[in-house]
Amino acid sequence: MTVGDESYGNVPPAVAVEVEMIKNSFSVDKDTLRKITGHFASQLEKGLASYDSEIPMNVTWVTGYPNGKESGSYITVDMGGTNLRVCQVVLTEEPGGHNVAQEKFKLPDNVRGGSADELWGFIADSLDAFLRKYTVKRQSEKLPMAFTFSYPVTQNNIRHGILQRWTKGFDVSGVEGYDVIEQLEQVLQRKNLPVTIVALVNDTTGTLIAGAYKDPEIKIGCIFSTGCNAAYMEDVDSIPKISKSGLRPGTEIAINTEYGAFDNSHHVLPRTQFDHTVDKESTRPGQQTYEKMVAGHYVGELMRLMLVHLHKRAGMFSQSDCSKLNCNNAFDSKILAAIDEDNTESHTGIRDILKRFNIDPTPYELEVCAILAETICTRAARLYACGIAAICQKKRIQRCHVGVDGSMFSNYSKFRKRAAATLREILNWPDGSEDQILLCPAEDGSSIGAALIAALSLRSD
Ligand code: GLC
Repeated sequence: MTVGDESYGNVPPAVAVEVEMIKNSFSVDKDTLRKITGHFASQLEKGLASYDSEIPMNVTWVTGYPNGKESGSYITVDMGGTNLRVCQVVLTEEPGGHNVAQEKFKLPDNVRGGSADELWGFIADSLDAFLRKYTVKRQSEKLPMAFTFSYPVTQNNIRHGILQRWTKGFDVSGVEGYDVIEQLEQVLQRKNLPVTIVALVNDTTGTLIAGAYKDPEIKIGCIFSTGCNAAYMEDVDSIPKISKSGLRPGTEIAINTEYGAFDNSHHVLPRTQFDHTVDKESTRPGQQTYEKMVAGHYVGELMRLMLVHLHKRAGMFSQSDCSKLNCNNAFDSKILAAIDEDNTESHTGIRDILKRFNIDPTPYELEVCAILAETICTRAARLYACGIAAICQKKRIQRCHVGVDGSMFSNYSKFRKRAAATLREILNWPDGSEDQILLCPAEDGSSIGAALIAALSLRSD
């Protein structure tokens, strides 16, 4: 869009100029993408060598893939951003067979920012309710449980994990720097629940394992949701920081990259004034720089900040009451995706969304919203592709499938297409050739994946 562009004939010049500036600052060209990917790959390498590098490259102690013969009954508890999901997964005798019973519990808002006791108490109570509802037998032997805790942890073994820091807006006091398994287990024991935690699982690792179980070509497990992260299998000989682990040379071990922290030192990512504000407003300024430009927890806020900027700076929405728009985090990623995916000629979908904010938009304001959503989501998809390309570059993977879980990916077709097209650009596949790195929806990470990891952890005992 440029000033005087016929298709946006009625856009006031002041707005047009600002929108043009935003669009320019959000565009990431091919050279920049490649530069970012190269730096990203070198940072992944660094993280394997030391415990204090920017990208943590956390060792998960999940060694190797399942062989299809895993069996037994497992409880899985997944602490997601909005819900707690509890499952009983039965891996049946036939290879790959399973049954799942599941229940979701909404995480109350106060738990996200409360105390450790409130958090673990909520999880234990929800688990208790699940076990009662599904009359899971209280046998003398406790049921093995996998706990999917999708935050960066330092693990000495698979049943242990010291929280490095909260991400995705969580801010529960008294947990950072402590072993989350020990804390949760104490509460489970106090309440006499018949489970024993056998594995701490990151959602990316669960996705990798569940994905590879179904499709052996999956070499990377990725999440694109509230947060953004990936896991892959690394050869133990390529991880200098665990050279004394005693693991057999050649063993493969899953690395939870925690690459949302990429470029916290601000070397390559093209940050804009809106990214600075998102960071400043966040619960952990200075951290998760890459994630804050890409993931669902932040992209809606980027859009809101842009609209507020255009309102204040250029008089957009001057006929409306913008008080609702002025509330932090009023826009979530679902709203942004819905705006971007509204293909109706007169933008009725966008109009309905803005009405919820008491805004009665003019045709040009609708058009600007569509442009902004596309701008933010295109940048997110292009930067998102850099992380995957960096793992492929680091591991010299020419062809593979990538299992991707997360609402931002599965419910958002434009995003998937843009990310795939960007991989092609970065990795330079010849025109007309098929995609060598294929992004595939993968959704069983926190149930089947976690249960398989629980089974693997028992097998290696
Ligand atoms: C955040 C968390 C990470 C998780 C990702 C996706 O980046 O730190 O552990 O995998 O979000 O949920």
